[in-house]
Amino acid sequence: MSNIYNDIDSTLLSQEEIEKKVAELAQIINTEYSDKNPIMVCILKGSAIFYSDLCKQITCKMQMDFMQASSYGNGTETTGMVIIKKELDNDIKGRHVVLIEDIIDSGVTLSNLKIELQKREPASLKIMTLLSKRARRESDIEADYCGFEIDDYFVVGYGLDFAEQYRNMPYVGVLKKEVYEQHLKAMKA
Ligand code: IMP
Ligand code: MG
Repeated sequence: MSNIYNDIDSTLLSQEEIEKKVAELAQIINTEYSDKNPIMVCILKGSAIFYSDLCKQITCKMQMDFMQASSYGNGTETTGMVIIKKELDNDIKGRHVVLIEDIIDSGVTLSNLKIELQKREPASLKIMTLLSKRARRESDIEADYCGFEIDDYFVVGYGLDFAEQYRNMPYVGVLKKEVYEQHLKAMKA
């Protein structure tokens, strides 16, 4: 019988730690956007669980929207080119927009997405991320609101995947090295 938890080396952020942080982040939205009816944009798929927990704690008027994007090129240059796999439903012109991310790693995709969305002339455009690996940044993008700065581990859970698995874990964990290596071997074979 498969059990994804056998693949986890350690817990990086527990459910309790995440819950506390999500409440703090929701409080920021409740304060700063209380009269702005923001469009809260879930960047699929990694943010789905964070987004849903966050939205449940928002008490001001807000609208939900969803987007999925990926970048062109080799990932090391910020070209402003972005492939939108799922488009927003809302016109964001003149609206206050908050992008909700799971993690900012190189920052390339998000940086490209921000350029694209700025062209649509929102009243404001801010970024909230649960996690950030600042040491790995390749573009000059920073989150306006960040849950946790983490070291350069490959983490899974709470929406974050490895090969589309582990998103359903309720906490953030570090994958066992052999799981990662096995996968790479299988890809090469
Ligand atoms: P980047 O900031 O453009 O390099 O890409 C960010 C995306 O890479 C995130 O939205 C995740 O999907 C993925 N990613 C980066 N680091 C991790 C990690 O540690 N675990 C799982 N996914 C990650
Ligand atoms: Mg991913």
